[in-house]
Amino acid sequence: MKAFRDAVPDSMKLMASVKANAYGHGAVQTARVAEACGADYLGVAFLDEALELRRSGIGTPILVLGYVPAEGLELARRHDVTLALFREDILEAAAQLPAVGKRLKVHIKVDTGMGRLGKRAGGEAERFLERALKVPQLDVEGLFTHFAKADEADKTYTQLQFDRFDGIARYVRSNDLPIPLIHSANTAAGIDTPEWGGGMLRLGIGMYGLYPSAEVNRSRIDLQPVLSLKTEVVMVKTVPPGWGISYGTRYVAASEERIGTLPVGYADGFSRMLTGSAEALIRGRRVPVRGTICMDQCMVGLDAADLPGNPVQPGEEAVLIGTQGTERITAEEVAAKLGTINYEVTCMIASRVPRVYLRGGAVVEVSNPLGRETD
Ligand SMILES: Cc1ncc(COP(=O)(O)O)c(C=O)c1O
Repeated sequence: MKAFRDAVPDSMKLMASVKANAYGHGAVQTARVAEACGADYLGVAFLDEALELRRSGIGTPILVLGYVPAEGLELARRHDVTLALFREDILEAAAQLPAVGKRLKVHIKVDTGMGRLGKRAGGEAERFLERALKVPQLDVEGLFTHFAKADEADKTYTQLQFDRFDGIARYVRSNDLPIPLIHSANTAAGIDTPEWGGGMLRLGIGMYGLYPSAEVNRSRIDLQPVLSLKTEVVMVKTVPPGWGISYGTRYVAASEERIGTLPVGYADGFSRMLTGSAEALIRGRRVPVRGTICMDQCMVGLDAADLPGNPVQPGEEAVLIGTQGTERITAEEVAAKLGTINYEVTCMIASRVPRVYLRGGAVVEVSNPLGRETD
């Protein structure tokens, strides 16, 4: 947050995107840190995500970036949740809300070329905006769009989207429409083209210390990943030549081999599609995952690397994403093996994986939804 605060104009507000459990990092904990770092807004995808934050005592303004059905409008108004508005029937439903003192805050979503949500730029959006401004139950606080290719080196399409959005922004200014927050930038635009971002940067992946792609200009901002995925070796055994490992015995030991078992599998977000390519770090070295990744466990070959002081013992740390000694496995490396992006790798980490929060190297919180006392 601080790195981005320094990199973008002072006048630009910062929204911390904590949707999808804060990209796997833990929504409530991340939102609290973002609040402490001066986030002006929080962004989520669903009303339920916003309500979870409110239940946890988060008071910062929250914008739901995605669709909220008509039956959610009153709930949103009651809990001071701002909604994205882009559908005629939802506008009509808002106009039918019982008149109470409080208005429902909305940001009108404009489609400038993402083709996902929003009223199309170039007439449709302006007309919708004018109608929304006439609904007394609504407080039209914002107007926003989303870039489809801001993370690519070629900015031609982003320029086109910016120009379309700027047309509406000029319409707002020339008609003196009272809309204080006009915004378009995601992390990639915040890094490469903050001048096209309007009044607020909607910061997602960058806040987790990850770059949105290999093509953004890394020299503009220095990011370090905040997340590691760690486990420990829970069993070590030596198998004879010909011994099969895991479902389908896709791996068979060619010679006597030491095998370690890790209590993490595809149900934790360590995808089965990593079978055959995944590695873990043990004693600062890379070791291969052996055989099929199971639902809750996977095996590693402990003889393949020259592990200092081998034999490895149960209880030793294994790193699946992160740093150990001088070795590092990045979310990008895992993503490349899966044919996806770093975003998906951290989002995949399942809710049953305990989150351990550190500050300055010291544990400040452990969140383990399954770890309740039963006696
Ligand atoms: C509408 C919207 N704004 C902002 C973001 C944040 O994007 P990023 O994580 O690339 O910064 C997202 C995330 O997908 C989004 O959907």
